Amino acid sequence: MRKNIVAGNWKMNCDLPMTQTLISELKKGLQTDYNCEIMIAPSHPCLYPAFNSTLDTPIEVVAQNVSEQEKGAFTGEVSIDMLQSVGVKTVIIGHSERRDSYGETDELLAAKTIAAVEKGMRVIFCCGEHLDVRKAGNHVSVVTSQIEKGLFQLSAAQMEQVVIAYEPVWAIGTGETASPEQAQDMHAAIRSFLKDKYGEMTANHTSILYGGSVKPANAVEIFAKPDVDGGLVGGASLDATSFLAIADAF
Ligand code: 13P
Repeated sequence: MRKNIVAGNWKMNCDLPMTQTLISELKKGLQTDYNCEIMIAPSHPCLYPAFNSTLDTPIEVVAQNVSEQEKGAFTGEVSIDMLQSVGVKTVIIGHSERRDSYGETDELLAAKTIAAVEKGMRVIFCCGEHLDVRKAGNHVSVVTSQIEKGLFQLSAAQMEQVVIAYEPVWAIGTGETASPEQAQDMHAAIRSFLKDKYGEMTANHTSILYGGSVKPANAVEIFAKPDVDGGLVGGASLDATSFLAIADAF
């Protein structure tokens, strides 16, 4: 069955001392039982120390991005093998900041996803619409198109390695959250889209996370929706108490 997941996307916010401090605060606050998997995504240089510092905890360290290329003359890029060599088993692909600020196209994201999945990685694949798209009422078609272009080259078996994160761009870092009903409606539309392509089992097994100004104050209500399987959390994941309170929302 699908899993509940609360993942902290630390973005470009924590250098090594900050990473170590945040992890030690998380370890101090961690309780023994959460009804969800807990993940953190530090920046690339901090992945290996983060992996080592969390070995004795249920926290999984995941990467924020990866190259679609296997190896070679790609200055500044980080390969799937490199991530795996420092203990990383899951990678975020297609965050709207990668799409918007770094021009990552649907085609590139499809290449990254297939490369990662074929090497055995789990992928958190992000999708989400801009405000003008929502205002025009085209949000479902835009998001399902992102999913079709980014994921539908995968087989049903490969889809077992995929988690989808719906992150409406207008709710990221803005303090404005999608209402629980807006999140539920989109998650249900995504699940039904998966069902049409892959069948009921894949649709029911795929975790779909919501991201966009998730905080302790709204997590319970959002996570209570039947098609919301957790959250991809930005700002609130930089504070150990807030992040653990969100994990505790399940
Ligand atoms: P915020 O929680 O800061 O809105 O960021 C969401 C996000 O982009 C997570 O990937």
